[in-house]
Amino acid sequence: MKILILNGSPRKQNTAAMVEACKNGAESAGNEVCVLQVGKMKIGGCLGCEYCHGDGKGRCVQKDDMGQVIDAYKWADMIVFASPIYYSHMTAQLHAAIQRVYSIGKPAATKAALLLSSKSGQTEAAEVYFKQLIGFLGMENCGIFKTVDDGNMSDEKTAEVKSWAESLK
Ligand SMILES: Cc1cc2nc3c(=O)[nH]c(=O)nc-3n(C[C@H](O)[C@H](O)[C@H](O)COP(=O)(O)O)c2cc1C
Repeated sequence: MKILILNGSPRKQNTAAMVEACKNGAESAGNEVCVLQVGKMKIGGCLGCEYCHGDGKGRCVQKDDMGQVIDAYKWADMIVFASPIYYSHMTAQLHAAIQRVYSIGKPAATKAALLLSSKSGQTEAAEVYFKQLIGFLGMENCGIFKTVDDGNMSDEKTAEVKSWAESLK
């Protein structure tokens, strides 16, 4: 399986630890994994101009890093959304990368999972959003992994994520 991990964190710490564990586990099971650090990319919000559905024929009018993400969406069989919680939700960077997929409609990927890191566990909004999003996109829910405060970067949590990723085929 081809797995795309979108890491919405702008720094290499708590979410990155889960991303790394997910990548290692999935690769050890023979999957191909592509990690994109969308938290550090330049991805503007959707302008709603509909250029992509008209003259653009699937291409966005904005020339930024989203082109790389779109190519990866088209390549992947599965998408993992990874993010710290910022004000009860995924980061703005990851949210923009999700919304800009509008230019190509529903990506071919059929499976999705969610990795969330937080300080105090306020993950409900991101989880509800994830479930609605993958329902709309017609993807299968492969799991939600959350880590909170002292659990961030813990051996226990990274082992849990790695073990789950090893089961992906
Ligand atoms: C701007 C900002 C907003 C945050 N908002 C929340 C929040 O609403 N709830 C929460 O539990 N943690 C919140 N946090 C804490 C982060 O989610 C937490 O530290 C997370 O583990 C950071 O992940 P990272 O190391 O991958 O960046 C916030 C952090 C920042 C920088």
